[in-house]
Amino acid sequence: HCNSTIEYVCDFPVDQEWEFPREQLSFSGEGYGEELGKGAFGKVVKARVANIRGRPGISDVAVKMPKEPQSEDDEVSVITGLIEELEIMKSMDHPNVIRLLGCCSQLSEGPLFVIMEYAPYGNLKDFLRNYKRSRIQNMDYEQPIGMLELTNRNLVTYAAQIASGALYLAEKKFVHRDLAARNVLVTENYVMKLADFGLSKDLWNQDYYRKTTKGLLPVKWMAPESFDENKYTTQSDVWSFGVLLWEIWSFGDTPYGDKIPLERLIVNIKAGTRLGKPEGCSPEIYRMMDNCWKIDPSDRPSYHSILRDLKWMLQQEY
Ligand code: ADE
Repeated sequence: HCNSTIEYVCDFPVDQEWEFPREQLSFSGEGYGEELGKGAFGKVVKARVANIRGRPGISDVAVKMPKEPQSEDDEVSVITGLIEELEIMKSMDHPNVIRLLGCCSQLSEGPLFVIMEYAPYGNLKDFLRNYKRSRIQNMDYEQPIGMLELTNRNLVTYAAQIASGALYLAEKKFVHRDLAARNVLVTENYVMKLADFGLSKDLWNQDYYRKTTKGLLPVKWMAPESFDENKYTTQSDVWSFGVLLWEIWSFGDTPYGDKIPLERLIVNIKAGTRLGKPEGCSPEIYRMMDNCWKIDPSDRPSYHSILRDLKWMLQQEY
């Protein structure tokens, strides 16, 4: 119910399929209410809930909500950004894409909540970094008890799962624009799922080709045509996927280190400099990532061929 004063709340129309009663979300108890992450539009907080979307009993969930705005303009763009992400997530249905569970969209009753599945192992970058750190600390032991062993086969499996999610997005004509290990979540049974659609753009919508100047750009993951001409396509996502492969095999290292000025990086990339082969990465995997970094987008492999090659590798070693 909108009234005619300057300050009013106008609720979004209720989408019965997804609307969830906000009073049923619980942010209290050990670990609940804790901030899990921060994005361009919001923050993600751990919560729990009973019987959401056909899941019997209590489930842990991750709730994305607007972060504290700096200004009124800010608040509007933060909420529109989050609504955009919500609408994108409603249309996604794939085992390697993080699932939407519901939303609380009635702003007259409280803040916008986007409820999604909780990833117990957090994001892939931190997961890999923590693994590397604990492996170094446990070097004296033969086989640390209870410690997950990340074999090359595990890494290839993770890469294949991510490629499978990325292929699904490509088939739906979605460009993610921010494929990176920080935006992959590690869920139950170490299943990898793509997340963070805050920057995703619908390829059918020509508006998204318009040049913008705002926002922080993930330059180290960006294809040359993206930072040069603001062009984002499935093939520019493939470039980012190559950088993501490099992050996996380097166990969460920062690409190109953290000292290089971005202007120099851009010059170097155009001159043909590429990330080197991580220690322990096979020549086949390195060739795959290097192929993702071809200057001509049409020379880069398709997700179909990437997925085919990764599955082939999994069949070779058992
Ligand atoms: N960080 C961001 N999103 C998350 C999620 N769904 N689960 C766990 N940690 C997260």
